[in-house]
Amino acid sequence: MSLAAVVLAAGKGTRMKSDLPKVLHKVCGLPMINHVLNAVEGAGADRMVAVVGFGGELVAGEIRERAETVFQHNQLGTAHALLQAASSLRNFKGEILVVCGDTPLITAQTLQELMAYHGQTGARATVLTAVLPDPGGYGRVIRDQNGNVMRIVEQKDANAGELAVKEINTGIYCFNSKGLFAALSDLTPDNAQHEYYLTDIIESYVGSGDKVGALPVVNAVEIMGINDRCQMAEAERVLRRRMLEKIMLSGVTVLDPSTTYVDSGVEIGRDSVIYPNTFLEGGCRTGERCLLGPGAHLTDATLGSDVTVRYSVVDGSEVADGCIIGPYAYIRPGCELGRKVKVGDFVELKKAKIGDGSKVPHLSYVGDAVLGIGVNIGAGTITCNYDGVNKWPTLIGDDAFIGSNTNLVAPVRVGEGAVTGAGSTITKDVPPGALGVARGRQQNILDWKKRMRAGKE
Ligand code: UD1
Ligand code: MG
Repeated sequence: MSLAAVVLAAGKGTRMKSDLPKVLHKVCGLPMINHVLNAVEGAGADRMVAVVGFGGELVAGEIRERAETVFQHNQLGTAHALLQAASSLRNFKGEILVVCGDTPLITAQTLQELMAYHGQTGARATVLTAVLPDPGGYGRVIRDQNGNVMRIVEQKDANAGELAVKEINTGIYCFNSKGLFAALSDLTPDNAQHEYYLTDIIESYVGSGDKVGALPVVNAVEIMGINDRCQMAEAERVLRRRMLEKIMLSGVTVLDPSTTYVDSGVEIGRDSVIYPNTFLEGGCRTGERCLLGPGAHLTDATLGSDVTVRYSVVDGSEVADGCIIGPYAYIRPGCELGRKVKVGDFVELKKAKIGDGSKVPHLSYVGDAVLGIGVNIGAGTITCNYDGVNKWPTLIGDDAFIGSNTNLVAPVRVGEGAVTGAGSTITKDVPPGALGVARGRQQNILDWKKRMRAGKE
């Protein structure tokens, strides 16, 4: 069976009070529309068309690689929106799933169930419904005495009896492509909102003797549409919990799910432990047995196995097996840490490549640097990588020992096995095996205290 999906996303989302189109607001780190595209793709859609309007260029840019976009310049209603996809799907034969771009909680499984039911009943259209204790605001699904769907009536057009109906239209449908667009173009906007209602197609199909089905969703939270930021926070809570359950069921311990924030798409290896107040964002990936947190904030970080990160930030960097990071380390983008590297307290790294077993244990800044294997960086060491105009590299060979409080004025190279004296400001290369010292010699003035006193008296 051939399946296409149309995502309706032209609405402005006025209640978001935002310059950003609603469907680009992120839930668990991913724009809402991407959650919806994931679900329809997971349900087997091989073609996806998004109908965009407000901020359409931005939306089109975000989803360029996975979906076609068509523009609806004036938002004349949901039927009019779907009609904009006609040119794209003119030659498409099969089923067309219609979903809204602002329902990020919908799952592939529910869409598959809708498709399966649609297939079994052989209906021309099947609508996903939900039974809600408080159906206010939604279109109501009106059935006859035998339970057959007759039509959908919008809240604003409904009479008292219809308003009492608790079964609502989720705005998610499955249509057979045959004759769909022709039927859509026959609809008229004679209703309270003077809009072209997609829901009117149900009555039109029923009227022409076609079979229409309706399937209530099992878990009504899935169809929650986001209209404002309060609802967005609610969706975030649900999705976050879903994500954490997936991680926990895959063998990761999460000590406190309520203070653990994991974006969708993050992958954590089994037997890892996530401590409270930890954020794993973007495309983070870790190996097995990692200890993350408390207070770890990782964004687009790739970690090997057996890595510990406590009270630290790691952005856009790669960390190999067995590294120990923190407490209070800040690893900025572009770093590559070899195996068993230690980055300790109050250390900042930026674009630093650090060889296996090297240590930067405390109070250092290492930027634009390449460190070999087994290097030891003393406390307070600074790579002076910026001369006010350009950034310059620092190269440190294997087994070099950088004395505490060394300034390495880049560009500079410290050779293999070389040593720098504590407190040195190194401006010239240090050859392999050499000691580089660059500081004033110490002078001791004997009996200083006694002579001072004598002077005063
Ligand atoms: C619609 C349904 C209603 C259902 C509800 C579920 C109609 C007439 N009503 O109502 O039965 O209970 O969804 O949430 O369809 N859109 C466009 N272009 C437009 C109008 C809307 O792209 O011209 C998009 C919106 O961006 C949104 C979706 O279609 O993603 C639904 O539109 P919305 O205005 O929220 O419809 P409702 O009035 O909520
Ligand atoms: Mg709506």
